[in-house]
Amino acid sequence: MKPDKSISGTVLQAGETGMAEIDHLPQPASEHSIALMAEPRALAPHQLEERRLIHREASSRAESDIFREIRTRLLGMAGTSNFITLVVAVSPRSGASFVARNLAAAFAFDEARTSLLIDCNLRYPEQHRALGVDPANGGLIDFLEHPAQGIASRIYATGVPRLRLIPVGEAREDSGEYFSSFRMHALLDSMRHRYPDRYLFLDGPTIKGSPDARILSDLADFVVVVAGYGRDTPAAISQAVAHFEPEKVAGVVFNQAP
Ligand SMILES: Nc1ncnc2c1ncn2[C@@H]1O[C@H](COP(=O)(O)OP(=O)(O)OP(=O)(O)O)[C@@H](O)[C@H]1O
Ligand SMILES: [Mg+2]
Repeated sequence: MKPDKSISGTVLQAGETGMAEIDHLPQPASEHSIALMAEPRALAPHQLEERRLIHREASSRAESDIFREIRTRLLGMAGTSNFITLVVAVSPRSGASFVARNLAAAFAFDEARTSLLIDCNLRYPEQHRALGVDPANGGLIDFLEHPAQGIASRIYATGVPRLRLIPVGEAREDSGEYFSSFRMHALLDSMRHRYPDRYLFLDGPTIKGSPDARILSDLADFVVVVAGYGRDTPAAISQAVAHFEPEKVAGVVFNQAP
């Protein structure tokens, strides 16, 4: 599919090989780093592949290079500070969660960085299942409804070093009101500012049919739009991209979901 010229940002294609590897990224200086945090269990490459996660071994090279490329693009747009990236799909099942999870993993490749993936798809929460996390202590919505219990117990290890997940938890209602709330803003502010080496990724719902993706974009510095390769038309992609402030749109990833 040819990119539509009205789409701003880089057009990146997931699922293609042969992209240049760019691996020497500037390291953020951090006084109080969490990059050296303890890892309870690290998954082996074959387990990561079962979870459709990139890793640093050669067998994952083609895909991991694509996510490294997107990482480089985002770091280039951001300058020196950490940031929040929203990942949303043009249409259902295009692979937004897949891209969000792997982009977060690509940031966590770097031993000087950590990633926090926050599942914000209230209707179709997927990340806890995909990452094999049992959200026994609840997640984002439980925190927003009972902030006194704190967020720390709702941040889960994933088996990927330096990658943490906040699952949706007990979703009571599919409502963007959670995302426009003062608590959500305050949570993301504190998550981002507490550790300068922590990068945040919001896995959002499909753009069409719900205002949530647009509301979430107000919380993010950048938006990565995922299009179904050969499925979403250029017109549908342009319409989807038009929901967001143009300067936030980092690019469109064409993903070929199975
Ligand atoms: N490029 C890919 N390679 C392999 N598997 C993929 C790829 N893209 C998506 N998948 C798989 O396809 C399924 C659907 O993808 P995913 O859940 O990421 O879509 P989504 O856009 O987040 O869907 P939803 O609309 O439910 O939020 C998942 O099982 C995911 O692991
Ligand atoms: Mg999803």
